[in-house]
Amino acid sequence: MAKILVQGGNRLEGKITISGAKNAALPLIAAALLTDKPLVLTNMPGLDDVQTMSNLMKGLGVSVERDRDAVTFDAARLSSTKAPEELVRTMRASVLVLGPLVAREGKAQVALPGGCAIGARPVDLHLSALEQMGADITIRDGFVEAVAPDGLRGAFITFPKVSVGATENLLMAATLAKGETVLNNAAQEPEITDLADCLRAMGANITGIGTSRLTIQGVPSLHGTVHPVVADRIEAGTFAVAAAMTRGDLLLENARADHLTAPIDILRRVGATVLEQEGSIRVHCSADTLTATDFTTEPFPAFPTDLQAQFMAMMSIASGTAVIRETIFENRFMHVPELTRMGASISINDRSAIVRGVGGLTGAHVIATDLRASVAMVLAGLVAEGQTEIGNIYHLDRGYDQVEAKLSAVGASIQRVES
Ligand code: UD1
Repeated sequence: MAKILVQGGNRLEGKITISGAKNAALPLIAAALLTDKPLVLTNMPGLDDVQTMSNLMKGLGVSVERDRDAVTFDAARLSSTKAPEELVRTMRASVLVLGPLVAREGKAQVALPGGCAIGARPVDLHLSALEQMGADITIRDGFVEAVAPDGLRGAFITFPKVSVGATENLLMAATLAKGETVLNNAAQEPEITDLADCLRAMGANITGIGTSRLTIQGVPSLHGTVHPVVADRIEAGTFAVAAAMTRGDLLLENARADHLTAPIDILRRVGATVLEQEGSIRVHCSADTLTATDFTTEPFPAFPTDLQAQFMAMMSIASGTAVIRETIFENRFMHVPELTRMGASISINDRSAIVRGVGGLTGAHVIATDLRASVAMVLAGLVAEGQTEIGNIYHLDRGYDQVEAKLSAVGASIQRVES
């Protein structure tokens, strides 16, 4: 099993180009199921999750062709409407094929995602909204079966809780439904805006993009388009933390500051200088000590849960105490014991982590417990004394495009070894 070795102590300086967003790419790939014409997605990140989603598409009969960072998905004819268990288990976002398949084919079977390391993560919101659009849903043998032989019909849906995935699934389903659908209390993450922009370019009629109320007038069919995947705000936020922690100076090219308002605010309060430039963000930090700052994860535009572990790594070496509240997932502190192994002082009280800043971290053997936790270990390793060895790095490969190459190019001592 491969491991990552990080030798701490190097200051990072230079340019990093931010890749297309994983969380935008996955729903965009599912959107290809809505049309029998090719959908070309450019700025596609090279990630295991993108590969898994592409394999799922191939299994449904979609042709997938990659040419550098452009991938063409051609769903002219579908050979199956069933998403198998092994793919859904590896990647929960597989459930995003449910809405498009029912909308186009009138039926779909998707394995239930089951439990997940960072919380229960049910799909009840997806299912009850699809029922409101006229789908018959049954759960049998670990699969969700959704049937709508006469097509879906528009509905007025109010999500009881903000969900990124449910908003995306229903947005896609509604594009081909009969009549008008209103999605109230919709998630507003930039990846949803990116999906809505792509669907509009495919001929969908959507208004309210970027707000918590999306209105969709169904159309009989969609066509293909060429769409660039929006920049990954979580990757950009991660490297911004690396600049602050190493007292470095990084220019993050292609990054969107308007997608990172809350994290940038915290970075500034911690002591970093963040310059928002056209098409890039520059982060530098020369403060002797970083200042501990509290934050709470919430749906966009508030602080994203996907940056919680990385910012916790930074707070662990700040001066003072930071209280970090996690309101999105009930079990997203699994990186705490790993950071503690490196010398961090963190206690958990219900859904808050209390981080007491320590003078420094020391290298240790740690494991990546989930995707974002894995990169938090890399960040901690960058400033730890000595060597940090990170196991279970398949999590990292799911969501970070060439992370070792990008970090090495700006001065980090990081390498992958097979063991
Ligand atoms: C997406 C992101 C993930 C991010 C999360 C929150 C993708 C591929 N993944 O995940 O990286 O951490 O948004 O920003 O874009 N919930 C229910 N019932 C449902 C659906 C969700 O109770 O039917 C709950 C979840 O358990 C969680 C909360 O709602 O507590 C938010 O989940 P959701 O926004 O749906 O996250 P995902 O779409 O799975």
